[in-house]
Amino acid sequence: MQGFFITFEGVEGSGKSTQVGLLASNLREDGYDIVVTREPGGTRIGELIREITHSKDNVDLTAVSETYLMSSSRAQHVREIISPALKAGKIVICDRFIDSSLAYQGYGRELGEKAIEELNKLALDSIMPDLTFFLDVTPGVGFARRNHTDKIDRLDLQKEDFYNRVYTGYHEIAKKFKDRFYIVDSTKSINKVAEIIWEKIISKIKK
Ligand code: TMP
Repeated sequence: MQGFFITFEGVEGSGKSTQVGLLASNLREDGYDIVVTREPGGTRIGELIREITHSKDNVDLTAVSETYLMSSSRAQHVREIISPALKAGKIVICDRFIDSSLAYQGYGRELGEKAIEELNKLALDSIMPDLTFFLDVTPGVGFARRNHTDKIDRLDLQKEDFYNRVYTGYHEIAKKFKDRFYIVDSTKSINKVAEIIWEKIISKIKK
């Protein structure tokens, strides 16, 4: 089988990391060779970038700098992890990718989709997800769900209208990339969401 690239997207508290974990263990149990990774991060340099983008000390980080940092992390990630794994026929599952930049920087920070697409061209090296799960919960529901023990980072400290723009942005992006986007109502139970994701995955990879 050719490699297959799956990404998960959604606002804070949408259940991405839980669903990435469940999907990864189901695929492993079925004997698939998989790589699980995340953005920003996924490589040594990417994780260093994540420290900058997430540190509460960096409230002075500008929207444009934030955009470049996210795409630098991606450039490193694509070349070091994602492309080699796909070339080796593996399934790559990534918690956030280009659509996070389109939603958070393009819509949330209002830099516009076009600028984000342009800026990420070189970083992406023509790699795009084969399938993207958008775990749909509104920012209100997402934040209410979060555990009181969850670590609060710089990106959790944005104003409500920022997250509302991100959420609207995701729906716009999903409309634009209908062929690869799959919207899942993530207000459903963890098991139900996992089941919906599993059915979709099986229909794609067992063709
Ligand atoms: P998370 O790993 O806990 O989801 O945190 C990642 C944060 O980084 C989240 O607030 C979304 C943000 N982000 C962007 O703003 N742009 C990006 O391109 C990526 C990958 C993440």
